[in-house]
Amino acid sequence: MNATDLTGKAAIVFGGTAGIGLATVRLLIERGARVLAAGLNSSDARVALAGVGDEASLLWREVDVRDEAAVSGAVAAAAEAFGRVDIAINNAGVESSFGPVQDAQQDEFDKLMGINLRGIWLGLKYEIPHMLAHGGGAIVNTSSQAGVAGIANVALYTASKHAVVGLTRAVALENAIHNIRVNAVAPGPVDTGLLHRMVDGHIPVSVIADSVPMKRVSQPAEIAEAIVWLASDAASYVTGHVLVADGGITAA
Ligand SMILES: NC(=O)c1ccc[n+]([C@@H]2O[C@H](COP(=O)([O-])OP(=O)(O)OC[C@H]3O[C@@H](n4cnc5c(N)ncnc54)[C@H](O)[C@@H]3O)[C@@H](O)[C@H]2O)c1
Repeated sequence: MNATDLTGKAAIVFGGTAGIGLATVRLLIERGARVLAAGLNSSDARVALAGVGDEASLLWREVDVRDEAAVSGAVAAAAEAFGRVDIAINNAGVESSFGPVQDAQQDEFDKLMGINLRGIWLGLKYEIPHMLAHGGGAIVNTSSQAGVAGIANVALYTASKHAVVGLTRAVALENAIHNIRVNAVAPGPVDTGLLHRMVDGHIPVSVIADSVPMKRVSQPAEIAEAIVWLASDAASYVTGHVLVADGGITAA
C-alpha cells in the first residue's frame, strides 16, 4: 500500500479554513482521510470549505485557539464523530505588524503569543491524551522560515515561530516512545492572506519573490504536501523534525 494513502484515518486541522490550512484539509481528504476543520469566521469558512468534502469526510467547527474549552471541544468532537483522531495539524496563526521591535505594543505581543504559541500548546494538550489512549498518532505544527532564522521587522512573529520549533522538539521527545510523532513545517513566503497583510505597504510581494533563490513565493498546496507527508506513514521514522519548505532561502 502507498504509505501516503490516508484511507481510514481521521484528522483535525486547526486553522483549516484559509490558506495553508485549507489546502491541507483538501489534500487530506483527497488522500482518503476524514477531517474536522477548525478556524475563525464561520461564514467565510463555510464558503471556503464548500465543495472541499462531503458530509461524511468533512466537518466544520468555529474555534478560536485561544479558547481552551473550544480547543478541547473540537478534539472531542472529532473523536466522537470519527471514533479516533490519528492526525492533528496545529496550523492556526496570525501575522505581526511590520516594523522595529520597539514599536510593537503589549496587546500585539499577547495576541501573537496567544494564537501562534499558546494555541498550538492547547492543541497538543488535548490531542496527545487522545492519541495516547488510542495507541499513537501524528502531529504537525506550523512554524515558519521565521522559526529557524531571524527576520527583521517581524521580531515578535519570529519569536513565536521559534517557540513552535522548541515546543515541537520537546513534545516529540516526550512522545517518541508512545508512537506519537510530532513534527513542524517551516514555510518560506506563501501566497496567502497572511503574507499579503503582513507586508502590505512595506514590501511588494514581487520583491519578496525575487529574494527567494527559486524566484517565487510558494502556493499553499505545496506546503500542504509537506504537512501531509509528515502526517502520513511515509514519514514513519521522522519525529522532532522541522521540514523547511522555503525555496532555498535558509540554505544561504
Ligand atoms: N503565508 C506565509 O507566508 C506563511 C509563512 C510561514 C508560516 N506561515 C504560517 O502558516 C499558518 C497558516 O497561515 P496562512 O498563511 O495560511 O494564513 P491565513 O490567514 O490564510 O490562514 C490562517 C488560518 O488560521 C486561522 N486562525 C487565525 N487565528 C485563529 C484563531 N485565533 N483561532 C483559530 N484559528 C485561527 C484562520 O481562521 C485561518 O484558517 C500560520 O501559522 C502562519 O504563521 C505562513
